[in-house]
Amino acid sequence: MKVLIVGGGGREHAIAWKVAQSKKVDKLYCAPGNAGIAGVAECVDIGVMDFDKLTAFAREKDIDLTIIGPDDPLAAGAVDAFEAVGLRVFGPRKNAAILEASKAFSKDLMKKYHIPTAAYETFDSPEKALEYVETADMPIVLKADGLALGKGVLICSTREEAREGVRTLMLDKQFGSAGDRIVVEEFMTGREVSVLSFVDGKTIKVMTSAQDHKRAKDGDQGLNTGGMGTFSPSPFYTPEVAAFCKEQIFQPTVDAMRKEGREFKGIIFFGLMLTEKGPKVLEYNARFGDPETQVVLPRMKNDLVEVFEACIDGTLDQVDLDFEDNAAVCVVLASDGYPEHYEKGLPITGLEEFEHREGYYVFHAGSRFDSQGRIVTNGGRVLGVTALGEDLKKARANAYEATKWVHFDNKYMRHDIGKAIDEA
Ligand code: AMP
Ligand code: GLY
Repeated sequence: MKVLIVGGGGREHAIAWKVAQSKKVDKLYCAPGNAGIAGVAECVDIGVMDFDKLTAFAREKDIDLTIIGPDDPLAAGAVDAFEAVGLRVFGPRKNAAILEASKAFSKDLMKKYHIPTAAYETFDSPEKALEYVETADMPIVLKADGLALGKGVLICSTREEAREGVRTLMLDKQFGSAGDRIVVEEFMTGREVSVLSFVDGKTIKVMTSAQDHKRAKDGDQGLNTGGMGTFSPSPFYTPEVAAFCKEQIFQPTVDAMRKEGREFKGIIFFGLMLTEKGPKVLEYNARFGDPETQVVLPRMKNDLVEVFEACIDGTLDQVDLDFEDNAAVCVVLASDGYPEHYEKGLPITGLEEFEHREGYYVFHAGSRFDSQGRIVTNGGRVLGVTALGEDLKKARANAYEATKWVHFDNKYMRHDIGKAIDEA
């Protein structure tokens, strides 16, 4: 089979690495890819939103299966564009990707189908939102309705912060039209867990659990980022929690989408908070998580392409997902200054260390080749260093050891990824 992966971050590197191992795959392309992905796939210089060029390329090369990685093309109808010209593609159609693309949609869906989530109100008008925060309980959470690179969520401790937040999202338009509408939500406390799942429209099969670290700095300080590191499994996702989620959250979400005429095929990522009153949904994503994928796929035993095909064909009920009985930790190496201002184009050395070590992986998030053929930094998040271990503590020690193998100027990382493991 010939396979095309659309995307160019750490998530797509992990997907490409796993797809490349499939016995069904003879040729793998990635658009646009990056310098790390180039080690497992032929990279093609086409942007993720350029559907005309992507579909033309897939037809020209007789691609048998395309996998769409990021949220933006899914929300804009990439899957519909491929299907319209008769190409086989993995991911939700536009009318189902809205599960992630509109927070107001997902909150209304949960309310209608009694799926546990935080209480909320939706506002299209800044005046109404400002009026509401004058009497609401603090802290409170403000969320831009649309896609905002995981950064459109503001947690406000005081009324003044809440007023400022409404202005930032709705008047100053810090996240553009994503803030035309906002969701104002009850603040919840508890452990966060990410659960990724495969969905074929009817059947849902969940993968092993993981936990992300969204803030830029140690101790969960600093700005929200795309994710600074992950571990898998989460010791807080107990069999009791899993059973509750299966019954009250996972299958009900898939059924709700079908009943709404928005059959979901692809990946649903459940961002959960384990509150005192039980697990509740923080958010849905309609794609693999980044950097959750970098700890989940290295532990997966199945042939990933077979699972993708079962989702497309509606035969997921016949698939048993199987994960190694071990643990993985991913530490993101970023450019100092991320998520605000940072330099790019700095040479990266030491990557070859990973080539011959089993259980250690370096997934490239932002890298490219410069004119001299050197691999240089090309983003805020640069690399995700993943290590396996027989348990979480060993995996964490291994991952931090491996972060020492790679160098670039301005290398920055959190030093407390997986600290919660010690409290389990
Ligand atoms: P989201 O993109 O909706 O997952 O939000 C990003 C992060 O903000 C989450 O991972 C949580 O850490 C935090 N967050 C979102 N909603 C809430 C909430 N209702 N209560 C407390 N924290 C929240
Ligand atoms: N790691 C969170 C996300 O992918 O949105």
